[in-house]
Amino acid sequence: MAEQSNDEKIRLLKERLEGCERVVALTGAGISAESGVPTFRGQDGLWRHYRATDLATPEAFAENSRLVWEFYNWRREVLAPLHPNPGHLALAAMESRFPHFTLITQNIDGLHQTAGSRKVIELHGNIWWVRCTGCGELTEDRRAPLPELPTCEACSALLRPHVVWFGEMLDPKILDQAYRALDTCQVMIVVGTSGVVQPAASMGATARRRGAFVAEINLEPTPYTDIYELSILGKSGEVLPLL
Ligand code: OAD
Repeated sequence: MAEQSNDEKIRLLKERLEGCERVVALTGAGISAESGVPTFRGQDGLWRHYRATDLATPEAFAENSRLVWEFYNWRREVLAPLHPNPGHLALAAMESRFPHFTLITQNIDGLHQTAGSRKVIELHGNIWWVRCTGCGELTEDRRAPLPELPTCEACSALLRPHVVWFGEMLDPKILDQAYRALDTCQVMIVVGTSGVVQPAASMGATARRRGAFVAEINLEPTPYTDIYELSILGKSGEVLPLL
């Protein structure tokens, strides 16, 4: 059978979405790439230039909190002037189009919310929130950069970025929300993720097993492409608005 064209695949996905009640979108760094946010594993990906073990683990923070904060403050400064792109805006519009639309993201940049998405399941936290290592208090702080070693107003202990580091557990309540949506969704769209970091990587496969029609939008194939119904190769900022 001849390979379908992207136009044909987009038409098919639109048909699937027609009249759909339960839709899930899962996003990764690729959705924010067109806003200027660096991805992790592409040609200029963050993990090509920095070692995750030095900067994004609880051990690294315990050994050198100043260096870890320097990295997160730099990322805050990079993100502060950036805006959502048409991909984020299209997903925000989908929220009001379907009775049950769940947006699950691995991104910590907050751009989905800036684009107008109100319900966002953030698997890996949010860089604009800080958490106290002493009393656990969670607060939003959009200053960029924060002081070199920011401390808690309530108890003076060191603050940490409210993000999930390698070797840390994801919040079970947040994971539960995500899996409940995956259990019942009819269509799932997996956008701009390389599919190598679990548990997000296998969420598309989970939805597929539970009966959903799963489509991927990415610049290139991923380890999961073959098990999805559709793989649309292209920029999310161009493909998503067409849906
Ligand atoms: P990656 O950097 O691993 O993958 C980005 C994906 O986006 C790649 O598959 C690209 O092909 C694709 N891509 C790039 N630009 C795109 C565009 N304009 N349109 C569509 N696709 C595009 O990022 P993630 O999969 O999000 O975790 O990485 C997963 C996790 O690994 C992150 O959340 C982070 C990281 O380490 C933590 O920090 C815990």
